[in-house]
Parts: sequence; structure tokens; C-alpha cells
Amino acid sequence: MTNIKSVILAAGKGTRMKSETPKVLHKIFEKPLLGYVLDNVKDITNEDFVIVGHHAEEVTEFVEKNYASAKTVLQSPQLGTGHAVSMVCPHLQNFDGQVLILCGDTPLITKETLNKFVEHHNSNNSDLTVMSTIFENPTNYGRIIRENDNSLKCIVEEKDATPEQKAVKEVNAGIYLLNWSKIKPAFSQLTSNNAQGEYYLTDIIAWGKKEKLNVNAYILENNEEIYGINSRSNLATATSIMNTRKLNSLMDNGVTIVDPSSTWISEDTEIGADTIIYPATYIEGKNTIGKNCKIGPCAHLRGNVEIADNCKIGNFVEVKNSKIDHHTNAGHLSYIGDSELGSNINIGAGTITANYNPLTKTKSKTIMKDHVKIGSNSVLVAPVTIEDGANIGAGSIITKNIPSWSLALTRSPLKILTDWVKKQ
Ligand code: UD1
Ligand code: MG
Repeated sequence: MTNIKSVILAAGKGTRMKSETPKVLHKIFEKPLLGYVLDNVKDITNEDFVIVGHHAEEVTEFVEKNYASAKTVLQSPQLGTGHAVSMVCPHLQNFDGQVLILCGDTPLITKETLNKFVEHHNSNNSDLTVMSTIFENPTNYGRIIRENDNSLKCIVEEKDATPEQKAVKEVNAGIYLLNWSKIKPAFSQLTSNNAQGEYYLTDIIAWGKKEKLNVNAYILENNEEIYGINSRSNLATATSIMNTRKLNSLMDNGVTIVDPSSTWISEDTEIGADTIIYPATYIEGKNTIGKNCKIGPCAHLRGNVEIADNCKIGNFVEVKNSKIDHHTNAGHLSYIGDSELGSNINIGAGTITANYNPLTKTKSKTIMKDHVKIGSNSVLVAPVTIEDGANIGAGSIITKNIPSWSLALTRSPLKILTDWVKKQ
């Protein structure tokens, strides 16, 4: 396998988000934008450099906590995209492989596209490949300028473009693959002699041509994939595109989505065939749902949820960080958090696993073994284990472990006062 390292540009300000949170840490289905880019390169690269500047500490914290193969490199001040990439030069002095450059704010690019991009670069024996795409309205993008023989000439930024250049619809997608040792010298030769006074990464195209290197473009057919996030409205659009993609792929693989227009499922959720997802269900984070389950309407899965085959998670049921074995049902109005549920369990309506102690700010686990039955409106105060086949009477508050095949109930005895009403 080729030795590929990535450089992900994430130092920019993101002014239009109007936020205290750095742009690349805004989330789609609870995963930061930068996480999508890092996940997409994971199988292609062996090391990733994230260029940080604005809110560098927060971005660094996210990267260090979640991505062992990634390092952050500080760019301060931010003098342009070319300057940003040049920050990795000291880290790659003797590196002889390839460098894949991407932006931290384009979460819709797919692994398939990145793989094809790398293949295209290698099969053309390219020294430098830039990804391009066609936009009917190319405003704001750098334009791809070609020679008469259709080979690449240069990239011109919107602000530097002549009216003829502005009419070009082929744009720079902002993704590049470089044979590092060949292109590295460009970074000490970039100038900021342009309308924005910045060191443009895009100038490496003209530089490569001047050096008689093999410079190519890979034209991306689906321009949706390079959709960048600059505003809250862009964020909503990207979420919706990602969701539609996910729902279509699930339906193609045998999952019924009753109402795609009201169903939200994260990219990182796997669902088995013949499962039915009812309307207004929201599934975020990383989850696996088995075959032949029924989820919703109005269910909320919040991540790290594993549900085996033939289960039912019904209306107004919230599940978080829990494992649920086959043929277990939680039909109505429940909260299941930090729990481990066996098979063939029935969770009555209104059951709550009380997993959080607000005084100690700690979370504890609820364990239910196979064949347990929980009566409606029960509270299971964690940490607690309900052993095989035990029954919990409706309305109980369970604060101790319950042995197998026993009945536990905390309800006060029912009193009936005959003719009480008439006597009043
Ligand atoms: C850039 C390209 C443009 C392309 C477009 C695709 C240049 C000069 N232009 O334009 O041709 O069509 O992307 O989206 O490269 N960044 C840094 N440090 C800096 C400046 C930027 O890390 O000093 C980061 C930003 O955070 C962002 C990325 O680089 O993630 C792109 O920067 P941005 O300012 O958005 O460039 P564009 O004007 O969109
Ligand atoms: Mg941009």
C-alpha cells in the first residue's frame, strides 16, 4: 500500500456560523464535521495532520481524544491555504510518499470518491492531482483554467478572475493529492501577490506546470460531495443530504422506512433487513440494530446502542449506551440508558432506568437478564441487576438486586373502602 498522509485544513474562522464553537466542531448527528473527514481518510492514510488556528485548543482536544493517528499543527496567523499546508513541512522533511489535502468543513465527501481519486492519481502517474467538479453557478469557487489542449493551466480564485474566467463552470473542489517530494519545493516559493493578499494553495497547479510535472484533474460527478459548511443553513442542508443518502442505502438493503421525510438516521447506524422504522424516529451516533425489529414511531436512539434481532422499541422510547438482546420489547414511553438487557424481556410502559446520580455526577448500569418482566411505571435505580426471569410489579421503585424468578414490588397495598363515596 502507498504511504499516504493527509493534511486537513481547519484553521479558518468560520465567521458566518455566528458561534462560540469552532466551525469544524459543529455537529451532524452528534458527530463534528471534522470527525466525518477524519473517518473518511482513516482507511487511506497512515497519519493525519489537522491544521488548527482559530479555537485551536478545542479542535486539538477533539482530535487528540478521538483520533490516535492524527496530530494537530498550529497555524498562527492564518495567511491562506498554501501557508496552512506549509505548516506540515517540518513534520515531513524526509517523507517520500503522498499527501492528501482536504478541508475540515466538507463532511459529505465519501470514502469511495477518495479511493477513486487516489486510483486516478496513481494510474495517471500523476505528481499532483486536484479534484474538480462542475457547478451551474460556480460563484465563490476557484475556477479551473485549462489550456487549448484541455490540460490544466492554473486555478484562479473568484476575486482574481476576469469575466471570461468567471464564466468557467469547472471549479476547484479543494481536495488534492501530491507526490510530496516533488511538490514540496512549491511551498517555499508561493507568493501572496493576489486580490486577498494570501498564500494560495491553488498556485501549486501553475507551479507544477512550470516545473514540467505531471499535473491532472479528477472530475467529480456528484458535486454534492464537496458541499462546504459556512453557515447554519449550510449545516441543515448537509444534514439533510447525509440523511437522504443513509435512508436510501438502508432501503436498498431491505429496511422499511415508513416516512423518509420525518426519519433521521446517522451514517454510523447499521440496520438489518426487514426492520421497520416508523415515522418521527431520530437516531444519532453509532448504533447497530438487528433484523426484523420495529423502531418507533417517535423513538430516539442516542448512540452506542446495540439492538439484536426481533426487538421492538416503540413510541416515545429513548435508548442510550445500551445493549438489548433478541426478542426484547420496550413498547411505550420508556428511558433505557447505560443498560444491558437480555433476551425475551418485556419492559412495561413508563419504565425508567435511573442511571444518573446528580450529586456525584456519575452514571451507573442497569442489568436485566433473560425473560425479565418489568411492570409499567417502574423505576430501576442503578446500579441494579434483575436476575433471570424475575418480575417487577407495576409502579415499583427498585433499589436492590432482584434474584431469579422472584416477584419484587414496592407498591403500597391497595385499600378498598366500600361505599365510601355514597357516605360523603
Ligand atoms: C478554497 C480554494 C478554492 C476552492 C475552495 C473549495 C484557495 C486559495 N482557494 O477557497 O479554489 O474552490 O476552497 O471549497 O485555496 N484555511 C486554513 N488556514 C488559512 C486559510 C484557510 O486552515 O490560512 C482553511 C479553512 O479553515 C478552510 C479551508 O482552509 O477549511 C479553505 O479555506 P477558505 O478560506 O474557505 O477557502 P475558499 O475561499 O473557500
Ligand atoms: Mg471555503
